[in-house]
Amino acid sequence: MLYCACHATYRGATRNHEKGKNHMSRVYNFSAGPAVLPEDVLRECADEMLDYRGCGMSVMEMSHRSAMYQKIIDDAEADLRDLMGIPSNYKVLFLQGGASQQFAAIPLNICNLPGAHKKADYILTGMWAKKAFQEAGRFIDAQAVASSADETFSYIPDCSDLPIRDDADYVYICENNTIYGTVYHELPNTKGKLLISDVSSMFLSQPHDVERYGVIYGGVQKNVGPAGLVISVIREDLIAGEDIADVPTMLQWKTQADAGSMYNTPNCWAIYVCGKVFKWLKGKGGLAAMKEVNEAKAKILYDFLDESELFKGTVRKQDRSLMNVPFVTGDADLDAEFVKESKAAGLENLKGHRSVGGMRASIYNAMPVEGVEKLVAFMKDFEAKH
Ligand SMILES: Cc1ncc(COP(=O)(O)O)c(C=O)c1O
Repeated sequence: MLYCACHATYRGATRNHEKGKNHMSRVYNFSAGPAVLPEDVLRECADEMLDYRGCGMSVMEMSHRSAMYQKIIDDAEADLRDLMGIPSNYKVLFLQGGASQQFAAIPLNICNLPGAHKKADYILTGMWAKKAFQEAGRFIDAQAVASSADETFSYIPDCSDLPIRDDADYVYICENNTIYGTVYHELPNTKGKLLISDVSSMFLSQPHDVERYGVIYGGVQKNVGPAGLVISVIREDLIAGEDIADVPTMLQWKTQADAGSMYNTPNCWAIYVCGKVFKWLKGKGGLAAMKEVNEAKAKILYDFLDESELFKGTVRKQDRSLMNVPFVTGDADLDAEFVKESKAAGLENLKGHRSVGGMRASIYNAMPVEGVEKLVAFMKDFEAKH
């Protein structure tokens, strides 16, 4: 199941490639992130690598202050706004520091707004929600109002009537839990409080109603682009009008909002690649169409897990993620054997996160349906053999 560039298809690993051609091999990459990107996008980037549209240099070498780069970032923002249906009273910021930097930026910005109470309520559904909660606790009174830690984060807690404090400045969720493979199929009842959501591992995999969020943000390295860029979509009134004393300049959203995400040198390359992915998604029919494809893809794997006698999904059925699918055999040695054999068959990065073990297949937008079919066929063979 390696990929032969001379044929532009995935092929059996043992099959001969065209003689005399300088070919490369591509695998089906189930990594949770950095992760598989659309091949069309990678090819375009390769084509433009040495000479971007006649300017004689690559985007990596270009000044971020040039008119050419300004068009790249402006187009990227316009396409993202179009894809997500982002209303005009929301800012789109292209930031560095990854999603993790926003764990601090969120409380530091929101809880320093005039009238804020410096309190926020967090729902703990996995490691990333916990990290965000712990980071907020360094600056504000952060409280956990629900958790699924009691069952290794294998479900989403009932969020219909949580003990949200009257004076909480916001409610925070991690909407898709990359490590544990759960997703909120319904947003929590925040009792009128602002909702802040980390959508890193489901970014652009389905539509979101942006107006339901105060901030919706994600690291792009799972579903959208190369690592090192986080996109934050922030309701304008949550961006301070004045400098916030005691908050580092670079952590203030105002700094980058005022500067069009270019207060300092941005991650030019990642923004460029994301811009291409946005166009690719539009070409695929947008986020509603993507959701349909992702549902069909995930169903292939979940249907097999439900019927298998060897493999078992680890997540409560109604909370299953379309993006990250963890599973186990129940025997750690057999799990290790599976990971080893699958790698040899061109199915890469199926090992579960180090904190939970087992296996995990991340099947982001750019994973072709054939990749999931090949995985299931491999699992069937493995089950027959063991
Ligand atoms: C849901 C989620 N949030 C946040 C992060 C942290 O992202 P970053 O490495 O960009 O800080 C990850 C990383 O894998 C993640 O899966």
